[in-house]
Amino acid sequence: MTVGFSGEVAEYYAKYRRGYPPPVIEALRAAFALDADDIVLDLGCGTGQLSLPLASRVRSVIGMDPEPDMLRLAGETAAGQGVRNVTWVLGADSDVPGVGTLVGHGSLAMTVIGQALHWMRHEELFRTLAPLFRAGGGVAVVANGTPLWLQDRAWSRALRACLEDHFGTRLEATCGTGADDRRRYAEALRAAGFADVEETLIDYSDELSVDELIGGVYSAIPADRLPGQKDRPAFAERIHRSLPSGPYLESVQVSVLVGRVT
Ligand SMILES: C[S@@+](CC[C@H](N)C(=O)[O-])C[C@H]1O[C@@H](n2cnc3c(N)ncnc32)[C@H](O)[C@@H]1O
Repeated sequence: MTVGFSGEVAEYYAKYRRGYPPPVIEALRAAFALDADDIVLDLGCGTGQLSLPLASRVRSVIGMDPEPDMLRLAGETAAGQGVRNVTWVLGADSDVPGVGTLVGHGSLAMTVIGQALHWMRHEELFRTLAPLFRAGGGVAVVANGTPLWLQDRAWSRALRACLEDHFGTRLEATCGTGADDRRRYAEALRAAGFADVEETLIDYSDELSVDELIGGVYSAIPADRLPGQKDRPAFAERIHRSLPSGPYLESVQVSVLVGRVT
């Protein structure tokens, strides 16, 4: 179990964290020519933001995550949507060799890692995954925009100042979303033997309500640092008061970095 995404943080994640718009799912399908015979591994699947929209395009998805609360909510959403071809597996990147033994070499069409690679030993993981893909299959590393408090907007700068003051620490981690992160991941894919390493960017913008903004922040706070229920209304009020008046526009850039086996 991970501490970060347990309990109420998982609930906030399921409710408030952005999913992926159809062009992202289409970019993944096109990158590996996914079809109805394919098996996909969604590693660090969280509450199913990628597993669920991918499920209708392939035979089967393995949604794998070390946090039981994330998997439970993913399973509930799948049941609510009538999705029956996702198998939810409790496990981390270190368990991928076991998945390989189960499915066999040459059996996976894609492993997608959405907003989760920064938790993993990515170099070792890419080497372990390489023999598991069918021809033309491979890895997709997906970054879902920039953390809410690191965006180039007045509301985001105000949010960052408020959170840094509250937690008494600088908030600089890009969580795998920065250009330097992408370069490191691309190099590691090439070093592990993947070819055609390329990045597709999908841009869109959206407006956040105050509730969505605060819920999004809660979904990113490690569970052991989320203010307790009694203190949360005051924390929310503090965030709200720190913000300039709306609208709260977010420019989201989704990066899809892929590497294929030949
Ligand atoms: C920010 S969420 C991403 C969820 C989803 N893939 C998305 O795109 O929104 C990160 C997820 O990675 C999982 N995670 C953390 N460490 C991991 C590891 N070592 N191996 C696999 N998943 C991990 C967490 O439990 C969490 O569910």
